[in-house]
Amino acid sequence: MNIIKTVGDMKTWSRAIRESGKTLGLVPTMGYLHEGHLSLARKSINTCDHTVVSIFVNPKQFEPNEDLDTYPRDLEADRRELERLGVDALFLPTEEEMYPEGFQTYVNIEGMTDHLCGKSRPGFFRGVTTVVLKLFHIVQPHSAFFGEKDRQQLEVIRQMVRDLNLDVEIVGLPIVREADGLAMSSRNRYLGKEERETAQSLNRALKQAQQWIAEGESSVEKIRSGMRTLIEREGRAQVDYISVCDPKRFVELKEIRGQAVVALAVQVGKARLIDNCLIERI
Ligand code: PAJ
Repeated sequence: MNIIKTVGDMKTWSRAIRESGKTLGLVPTMGYLHEGHLSLARKSINTCDHTVVSIFVNPKQFEPNEDLDTYPRDLEADRRELERLGVDALFLPTEEEMYPEGFQTYVNIEGMTDHLCGKSRPGFFRGVTTVVLKLFHIVQPHSAFFGEKDRQQLEVIRQMVRDLNLDVEIVGLPIVREADGLAMSSRNRYLGKEERETAQSLNRALKQAQQWIAEGESSVEKIRSGMRTLIEREGRAQVDYISVCDPKRFVELKEIRGQAVVALAVQVGKARLIDNCLIERI
C-alpha cells in the first residue's frame, strides 16, 4: 500500500491511474477505522480498479468547543487494516498541506444544512463540503463512498456534486452496527460501560418509531415525543434533536406520507451520537 502525504504526490499517483484507463475509488475518513469505514473500502475495492482511503481529522468541521484535540487516532492499526483489505493508497495529508497559511475559500451548501446536525453544529457542513471538494479535486476519483450513518452529510455531498457539476459518482452504503444495535462510530470509544448501555437507546427508539409507523401512526409529533420519552428514561442521555424529516431537504414533516427519515442526535457522556433510518409509507 502506498502511503502518500502530500497533495502533489497524491495528484501524480491518481493521474497515472486515470491515464492508464483504470477506475479509481475514494473513501474519505477521519480514521480510527471500524467495520463501517471498512465496508466502504471493501465496496470500493470490489467496484473500482484502485482504491484510495484518506485519513484526515479535518479541523474545519469541528466547533471550538468540540473534540478535535481528543478525537481518537490509531494510525498504525488503521494502516494494518487497510493493507490487509488490499487498499492501494492511503492519503494522509497534514493540516498545513490541506490548509496552508492564508487559506480562505469555503464551500457552503444552503438550505438543507440549516437543519439537524447543521443547526446544532453551525460550521460543520461548511467544513465537510470544503474538505470533501478538496479531496475530490486532489484525487479526482470516478466514485466516492459514504455511509448512510451520516445521512445528511451524504445528501449534502450529493447536492454539492449536482450543483457544481462534479464528475464523481457518489455511492451511499448502509449503516454497520454492533451486535447490540449501536451504530458503529469512532466516538463510541468515549463510552463507559453504563453509557454504552444508554447508547443502545438510540437504535431502540428508531426501531420503536418504525413499529409505530408500521402500525399506522402518522403524527410526527407523537412519534418524536414517544422517542424522546424512551431515550430520556435513560438518565445519562441528553437529546440534541429528534427529527422526522424529508429525506432530501431535511425539513421537518408534520405527517408521514411517502418517504421520511427518522434521525436523532444524543449526547451520552462525552460522545455525541447520531443514528437514523429511512422509512416508507405507501
Ligand atoms: P468519519 O466519521 O471518519 O466517517 C467516514 C465515512 O464512514 C463517512 O462516509 C461515514 O458516513 C462512514 N461511516 C461511519 N460510521 C459508519 C457506520 N457505522 N456504517 C456505515 N458507514 C459509516 O464522516 C466523516 O468521517 C467526515 O465528515 C469526512 C466525510 C471524512 C469529511 O471530513
